[in-house]
Amino acid sequence: MKERFEFNYDLLSNWKELPIEEHVLVEQAYAAMENAYAPYSEFKVGACAKMDDGSFVLGNNQENAAFPSGICAERVALFYAGANFPNKKVITLCIVAKGDLMPASQLLSPCGGCRQVMLESENRQKQPIRVLLVNQDGRTMILDSVIQLLPFGFGRIFD
Ligand code: THU
Repeated sequence: MKERFEFNYDLLSNWKELPIEEHVLVEQAYAAMENAYAPYSEFKVGACAKMDDGSFVLGNNQENAAFPSGICAERVALFYAGANFPNKKVITLCIVAKGDLMPASQLLSPCGGCRQVMLESENRQKQPIRVLLVNQDGRTMILDSVIQLLPFGFGRIFD
């Protein structure tokens, strides 16, 4: 029997078309992006997690001369949330970036390692995480769950 995975997402031509209450989330992600430490790639990434109590947890990429020692923005935000607020759930994760590494119109798409970490956050909290991917040109992809980014990911379901 064949089964189809249904890939569901929404696209907006600009993040400003998001509901007004989500604008602050994007703005916080941009603010976080400015503090990225990315002297090697010159590609700055910002992540903002909106938690279930309305607070925000920010992350940005942190690079290192010993290249594998750096870490992506998404993981900084999610690991910070896990380390400091283990009982809070992530409602929405917004990711933004700037730099010449890719054209402005190209979809900003989290790396495989970050998808795996995002999936585990979702499984752990037993609640889907809404994901907002904001391209450099403002176009925005909206996903209802990390499953949309990593179907059939490795991991266990916590019950
Ligand atoms: N980067 C992120 O922070 N998030 C991603 O999803 C992909 C890439 C960072 C890693 C590195 O510091 C820079 O962007 C260039 O790859």
